[in-house]
Amino acid sequence: MSVVSANGRTVCVIGGAGYVGNVLTRRLLGAGYHVRVLDRLIFDHGAAIAPLLEHPRFELIVGDLRDPAAVDRALAGATDVALLAGLVGDPITATYRELSDSINRDGCKAVVESLDGRGLDRLVFTSTCSNYGLRTSDEPATEESELAPVSLYAEHKVELERKILAEAQRGVDYTPTVLRISTAYGLSPRMRFDLTISEFTRTLAAGLELVVYDADTWRPYCHVSDISKAVMTALEASAADVSGEVFNVGHSDENYTKRMVVDVVQDAIGGTGKVTFEEGGRDPRNYRVNFDKIRDRLGYQPDVRVPQSVAAVAQAVQAGAYDDFDQRQSFYTNHTISDSALGTHPAAEGEG
Ligand SMILES: NC(=O)c1ccc[n+]([C@@H]2O[C@H](COP(=O)([O-])OP(=O)(O)OC[C@H]3O[C@@H](n4cnc5c(N)ncnc54)[C@H](O)[C@@H]3O)[C@@H](O)[C@H]2O)c1
Repeated sequence: MSVVSANGRTVCVIGGAGYVGNVLTRRLLGAGYHVRVLDRLIFDHGAAIAPLLEHPRFELIVGDLRDPAAVDRALAGATDVALLAGLVGDPITATYRELSDSINRDGCKAVVESLDGRGLDRLVFTSTCSNYGLRTSDEPATEESELAPVSLYAEHKVELERKILAEAQRGVDYTPTVLRISTAYGLSPRMRFDLTISEFTRTLAAGLELVVYDADTWRPYCHVSDISKAVMTALEASAADVSGEVFNVGHSDENYTKRMVVDVVQDAIGGTGKVTFEEGGRDPRNYRVNFDKIRDRLGYQPDVRVPQSVAAVAQAVQAGAYDDFDQRQSFYTNHTISDSALGTHPAAEGEG
């Protein structure tokens, strides 16, 4: 596997101020890349990325990916693109359906359509293992398995994947790669406590009661730093290994049921958590995923495992690091888009 040098590369991370983007951006800077983030800061979460403005190889453009002028500015002189931005998760796309159509489907497609002919090297698109949706088979899903999206979020991801792979078939002048990423966990400067592992950990470590629906449904998980490692792996692998390819991102050891996640959290906090189990929740997703392809073809393995991160998050919660959770829910969760972000793009009008 040949590796392209990081020197001289400028990665445009669209959505780089988010939960994953904050960690990816720091990792890229640490590896010597120039990083330019284009982000609309829809949760008023600029404070998470602002400290990087002092870094000599970092630039921030606050703008909307649906604005072609902002995209042109962000791509000027860039060698690579990581497309992360959008309304992320099933709940937020159910709340803001029109805005999801506008950003996650139409806006992201327009960005992809604008890339050919700019002399870019790589495009890495962060898709999701949620695309496997509700699996009837007990076999872990491979990249070839049927996609069965059960949310608008995953439907749009599937559409974008198809768009990107069709562009690859058409013969574009850059190398596109799709990463189907497991549900993230772990600490980030823009922390998200609406994701299963972090939500369970915060709730129980804060001494609150946790209600768990459908405890025996499976899901794969991946630490934010390992997601960032996968994006870098795709940027640095030989083009022949990743061009027009889809990779599941995670590790086979990291498929967990919600009940198993509860057990890990209980271990971390000395078994003191109050948990109630219920059936019939609103999230029907149930899937285990196979990660052999990314391991075998790209030599990628995640470094972190769930228990070590849960212990760290529990410690941070117990130290009071997130005592402002109730006052700053829009910062810590993907539930509500800030009024300022809703109001300033014509396509966003009418959303509630
Ligand atoms: N977090 C996970 O569990 C997970 C799992 C699988 C895949 N992914 C993918 O990883 C990527 C990042 O997810 P995340 O958890 O960091 O989400 P996030 O919500 O924290 O980050 C998304 C970022 O996109 C920005 N954004 C939204 N609309 C925009 C617009 N119109 N123009 C410019 N910027 C805009 C937001 O301001 C935010 O900073 C997404 O593509 C997501 O689908 C995440």
